[in-house]
Amino acid sequence: MPAVVVVGTQWGDEGKGKIVDVLTEKADYVVRFQGGNNAGHTLVINQKKYILHLIPSGIFRPQTTCVIGNGVVVDPEVLINEIEKLKKEGLNIDSNKLMISEKAHTIMPYHKALDMARENKAHKNKIGTTCRGIGPCYEDKAARKGFRLIDLTYPDIFKERLKNVLEEKNVILKYLETEPLKFEDIYEKYIEYGKYLKPYLTDVSQVIWQAKKNNKNVLFEGAQGTFLDIDHGTYPYVTSSNTIAGNACCGTGIGPSEIDLVLGIVKAYTTRVGEGPFPTELEDETGNFLRDRGFEYGSTTGRPRRCGWLDLVLVKTAIRLNGINALALTKLDVLSGLDKIKVCIGYEYEGKTIDYLPSTLIEISKLKPIYKELSGWKEDISQIKNFDKLPETTKIYLKTIEDYLKVPLYLISTGPERDNCLIIKNPFQN
Ligand code: IMP
Repeated sequence: MPAVVVVGTQWGDEGKGKIVDVLTEKADYVVRFQGGNNAGHTLVINQKKYILHLIPSGIFRPQTTCVIGNGVVVDPEVLINEIEKLKKEGLNIDSNKLMISEKAHTIMPYHKALDMARENKAHKNKIGTTCRGIGPCYEDKAARKGFRLIDLTYPDIFKERLKNVLEEKNVILKYLETEPLKFEDIYEKYIEYGKYLKPYLTDVSQVIWQAKKNNKNVLFEGAQGTFLDIDHGTYPYVTSSNTIAGNACCGTGIGPSEIDLVLGIVKAYTTRVGEGPFPTELEDETGNFLRDRGFEYGSTTGRPRRCGWLDLVLVKTAIRLNGINALALTKLDVLSGLDKIKVCIGYEYEGKTIDYLPSTLIEISKLKPIYKELSGWKEDISQIKNFDKLPETTKIYLKTIEDYLKVPLYLISTGPERDNCLIIKNPFQN
């Protein structure tokens, strides 16, 4: 039984939630391993839209256990609200359904205040973060000043450490011209969060180890995308975690030999939210068409997403960084109606053609995309379940992608609903 890691190959918002939801029909465990509530995974089930920020996308399947790994940073208030909202929908969210690593770090109020204050002060140099406190929380984890969720269940130790940490944070907040935070406003609240979450806290590494031993299907659900990776993304315009597949191991406590397949999610065009380079960006009518047709507005912050042509060089680079051996293409239906569709198949860089994304912003700023132009299609493809029934020009588009990337397409999503999906091969089935 396989362990499959699902990752985004672009700048996030590739439609991972939808693909994970389709795959969870056969998954026993769905595991988040990095990021926090900066993510927003949109699912449409029976015409009802759900946006999950922290809880893994398998929550709507009765047989699936959802797991939040140690690599995730958890805003307890957001998580508790999400649990309560799902309970109101009639879902049973007990400690068999949802398991959370006791080692996961806690987003504190000063993390959010710092994130916001820095963004406000940075003006034109801002990153365009989601202001959810993600970066400052990971900073404290690395600085060994963070609080793990389990720490909230030891009130006395938590009290002493919080006093110390808050003293330092308030000095920085003052420097950033932001109101200091009061100990009393944080302490009691977080002790209550600890009480609420305690039944869910567990050793996630053991849970997954046992699951694998018992031949269960395990799906690791990545958040954000490859080029938002703190090491391999378009630094500094990145998030603060490793978003690539290798982090499924560090973020949950399992070894690399436990992973059987890495599935890369590719949107049929490219989007990016926040600041940072984007070689195939379209600031014209076609860009607006993609934004309108694809509802390209952030599911966490509501910000309009920047849109552009599919950049196959970017995806090829992501295949290398993640070890991707299968692909799922999403939002193909959005392209219906365009006369011509372009895909980027190389970059011109200082008179040479290259087929990878360089490391620095300086180099990336000099890239000129080289496009291949293909014919579009007008038909509605959302109900097509058989590859052969797709319009000829759609098939050529798909074949161009596969030929260039040399990785097989396993799934093609043709609309927001669960059944708008053409499954060529299900990774959980032989
Ligand atoms: P942060 O993760 O809030 O620190 O934001 C850093 C960068 O990552 C910003 O450009 C955000 O817009 C981007 N980002 C963070 N999470 C997501 C996501 O789930 N989808 C797309 N972009 C994201």
